[in-house]
Amino acid sequence: MILGLETSCDETAAALITRDGAIVANVVSSQADLHARYGGVVPEVAARRHLELVTPVIREALGEAKAELGDVELVGVTTGPGLIGALLVGVAAAKAIAWARRLPLAAVDHLHGHVASLYLEPDPLEPPFLCLLASGGHTMLLDVQDRGSKPHVLGTTIDDAAGEAFDKGARLLGLGYPGGARIDRLARDGDPGAFDFPVARVPGLDFSFSGVKTALLYAVRDKSDAWLEAAHADLAASYQRAIVRALVERTQQAAEQIGASRVAVVGGVAANSELRASLPDAALAPLALCTDNAAMIASAARYVEPVSYPGYLGLDAYASTA
Ligand SMILES: Nc1ncnc2c1ncn2[C@@H]1O[C@H](COP(=O)(O)OP(=O)(O)OP(=O)(O)O)[C@@H](O)[C@H]1O
Ligand SMILES: [Mg+2]
Repeated sequence: MILGLETSCDETAAALITRDGAIVANVVSSQADLHARYGGVVPEVAARRHLELVTPVIREALGEAKAELGDVELVGVTTGPGLIGALLVGVAAAKAIAWARRLPLAAVDHLHGHVASLYLEPDPLEPPFLCLLASGGHTMLLDVQDRGSKPHVLGTTIDDAAGEAFDKGARLLGLGYPGGARIDRLARDGDPGAFDFPVARVPGLDFSFSGVKTALLYAVRDKSDAWLEAAHADLAASYQRAIVRALVERTQQAAEQIGASRVAVVGGVAANSELRASLPDAALAPLALCTDNAAMIASAARYVEPVSYPGYLGLDAYASTA
């Protein structure tokens, strides 16, 4: 079995999967409530909470799998990108477990992990495909040719990520953090045509989401509480429509450009109901595997060259890919 660990942001997660990609246990402990009062993730608070949670979460995963550490043959861990203090907790835990049992360790890139959420049973996807990765920190169009090598980046956001735009919009609407799922829920009761929130068009296959957030800011600025309350769902629906439209249009444009026969969507924003409905023919990451989890990290670990004992003891975490 492969043990996957993920601590790059505010989810402490451990999972066990088989070599064939069947999920045996998948435990995610979200710290969202802890960070809600700050309106976003506080890195140092996240790192300290990971430290408290990482062992219990691994234990819970082993319990769920009715397994022991002796059943683990490979440890896969997110080494970046993410919050450096948070990442280091997972990396240290992975090293300790692997070192104690002389197991190999696979250093997994978090974004490769999101893509690898598509390679798990019961419905694994085979490359090549065009992948829209839309999460809290990234928005990218990837040309995925095989499961192991780094995909070619066709387009990326030049400012905010799509998930970040959802979170900032939710904040402006007073919905709290994390906001994507809350906008999604509220939007169901609103009219997406009520407001016109255009998304900036940038050249090529890149995205830009900072303007739509400013448009929402102007729409709600100086309005009375009564007005805001009455327009709440319409604002959410219109705002969501603008973001989803931009994602869908660019994805379709990229698919045409590279002649992709298959399109896939991964990352936290892939959980969005309007986005899912707008791409009916796409391979969508299963809902439980859209936001951060360790099953996707264990899945990616299968396609990474593992570092054998004790070479990984000097392994470092990295905050960004650049
Ligand atoms: N139903 C939804 N609709 C829209 N956005 C959503 C939905 N559910 C979650 N999100 C958004 O997904 C994001 C979290 O996704 P994820 O966990 O993949 O991001 P991350 O790990 O923080 O960032 P990254 O993967 O880029 O490092 C948040 O911005 C959240 O608002
Ligand atoms: Mg993520």
